[in-house]
Amino acid sequence: MKILSVVGARPQFVKLAPVHRSITKNGLHHLIVHTGQHYDDIMSKVFFDELEIPLPDVNLGAGSGLHGEQTARMLEGLEKYFIDSKPDWVLTYGDTNSTLAAALAASKLKIPMAHVEAGLRSFNKSMPEEINRIITDHCSDLLLAPTTTAMAQLSSEGLAENSVLVGDVMVDSLLFVLKTLESPFNGIGPELKFPKDFILATIHRAENTDSKERLQSIVAALSSSSIPVVIPAHPRLTNRCSSFGIELTTGNLHSINPLSYRNLIQTVQNARSIITDSGGLQKEAFLLDKPCTTIRGETEWIETLEDGWNILLPDLDGLIDVALRQAPSKEKSQPYGDGTASEKIVNALTSLN
Ligand code: UD1
Repeated sequence: MKILSVVGARPQFVKLAPVHRSITKNGLHHLIVHTGQHYDDIMSKVFFDELEIPLPDVNLGAGSGLHGEQTARMLEGLEKYFIDSKPDWVLTYGDTNSTLAAALAASKLKIPMAHVEAGLRSFNKSMPEEINRIITDHCSDLLLAPTTTAMAQLSSEGLAENSVLVGDVMVDSLLFVLKTLESPFNGIGPELKFPKDFILATIHRAENTDSKERLQSIVAALSSSSIPVVIPAHPRLTNRCSSFGIELTTGNLHSINPLSYRNLIQTVQNARSIITDSGGLQKEAFLLDKPCTTIRGETEWIETLEDGWNILLPDLDGLIDVALRQAPSKEKSQPYGDGTASEKIVNALTSLN
């Protein structure tokens, strides 16, 4: 059986790693296609190296651009590659433009296609990711849901029959990397040794970076913190700041290069709290017992809101005070599974073949 995974953006490499291990452990043939959506070493190669993912069988070099042109380049390359390589299953991950392109290419060619992380919704259609998720789910032959909330959503959209609850592959990745961490903590990334007490922040969503006023308010709020705020800057954030003339290292805000996955996890473990607009980081904070403040109006990962572990704060009101609240004392539930999602994914694929 030949399984073909399509990835292209940073969070997809983290999701691919445990799935690749399970596929090869089960003696199945795995092809990896990189769309080239993320192309800087620090956004791509570092993750393949660190997570021991083999080099992609092909890189389509789609690069950046308007969403339509970027997705179209991927679609064209994927279609050709699917025709040549004849996979039994195409696996697509998450909610990026690479996810959408893989879903469209496979479904037009009638190649069975499975979606890892199916059933998530923000109910905010102004997010490109929400459109990508909905279309991908409705094209999928197999919907691999991370949570019971996602399963209920798929059912409400008439997709229950092809949905399977597998858990969250990000838990698989996190548990794998936790076993490999060095201790003690040696500072954040290669370039910065850092004080004991700090907040970790990440911002990259279009809704927070594309308007100068919005980005200025976020930077002002973060830089006014009483303790250092470290922000590993996604290229989108760096680009927007430089075109808007916004200084990212200012006041108590310290910008550093994007971190590798292992470095990021270690930094979360050592941070007092997290401020973010990333979906993955909301969960990593939850799983690693760190209070998280999400500067968005909604989250796809609603389980993280339990007991105030994660708080949504789109208006930034009292951001630093909210971020520095005490961690909740109640024990958490385990809504994201036990780290065996990738094994369950492979079982689901093989049982349907
Ligand atoms: C994409 C995903 C988003 C995901 C994020 C993770 C979509 C619609 N969005 O957003 O869901 O959370 O990846 O990072 O697919 N750039 C570089 N080097 C790179 C990659 C990007 O400089 O290696 C710059 C380019 O200027 C590019 C911009 O970052 O235009 C945005 O990149 P893009 O891939 O379009 O979307 P992301 O914001 O990364």
